[in-house]
Amino acid sequence: MEAKKKRMLTGDRPTGRLHIGHYFGSLKTRLAIQESGEYDPYILIADVQALTDNFSNPEKVRKNVREVILDYLSIGIDPKKTTIYIQSMIPETAELTVFYSNLVTIARLERNPTVKTELAQKREVFGESVTYGFLGYPVNQAADITVVDGAVVPVGEDQLPLIEQCREIVRKFNSIYGETLREPEAILSNTKRIKGLDGNEKMGKSLGNAIYLADTEEEVNKKVMSAVTDPARIKKDDQGHPDVCMVAYYHNLFSTPEEVQCVCEECKEGKRGCVACKKQLAKNINTFLAPIREKRKYYEERPELVENILKEGTEKTKKTAEETMRKIKKAMKLNYFEN
Ligand code: TRP
Repeated sequence: MEAKKKRMLTGDRPTGRLHIGHYFGSLKTRLAIQESGEYDPYILIADVQALTDNFSNPEKVRKNVREVILDYLSIGIDPKKTTIYIQSMIPETAELTVFYSNLVTIARLERNPTVKTELAQKREVFGESVTYGFLGYPVNQAADITVVDGAVVPVGEDQLPLIEQCREIVRKFNSIYGETLREPEAILSNTKRIKGLDGNEKMGKSLGNAIYLADTEEEVNKKVMSAVTDPARIKKDDQGHPDVCMVAYYHNLFSTPEEVQCVCEECKEGKRGCVACKKQLAKNINTFLAPIREKRKYYEERPELVENILKEGTEKTKKTAEETMRKIKKAMKLNYFEN
């Protein structure tokens, strides 16, 4: 019999639609993993985790669960190959989070670099008093990974401390209750973070500098026209510096190598105006997004199909989660009424 493939798990918080930064940062890697057939891929929409800092805004989370699944399907995540499910539909995860919460100290959670950075940014949400739920979300994430027996987790660099924390919890669990759980491994995606249209190091919804996978042609055209170019270039025939221009930066992602070379050379020689350059870029981004929009429309028009995909994914995941919980409860001597 063919050996069982290792399970891969990854996911997103449904707090907004996904943009091209997500595409180059993580979605592209997930597609490649799906197509390679090397792992058994699972993707979760982390609604419970999204609520840890959006608890007073349940409509936002609900709405974005739908947006995120449409984003996944539109870029080619194939439910026949990848299991997609909603985190809250697997209540075993919540139960496991409680068990794990004994295995991690408050000091350790406060030291988690990812949580630390996020907390600094979130002072305006929580003020000085941080919720127990937010501080503990890495524990919840450890439960996400282990409840499905996740072996590999493809993540960006910012998520590495969360995987490390999960590994620590697993080791602690196994040392106290006996070898039960698998220690997951992170696969670091080699793509780097995509800058925003305004030149900001990060593309993000809160920064208002993102191109969304679901943007219309008009929206893309308008956004590209507002992209930051070389500030030293005032007149069309001034010599430009593509290395400081966001339009050139995006040409590198969406245009052919020949086009990039031509665009940069003409810019440096002052032969190419920024408007023409932006128009060409917008056209290439729209060419890239056209099949994605088409697929999105297909699924948007078939809500019952999308619901079925999620239901099937959830059912399949639930079976695995129940199996894991049986093992965990046995190890923790919580297997009452079982022989
Ligand atoms: N923390 C991840 C994010 O912010 C989302 C997430 C939740 C996740 N559970 C996970 C990622 C399990 C990988 C594995 O995007």
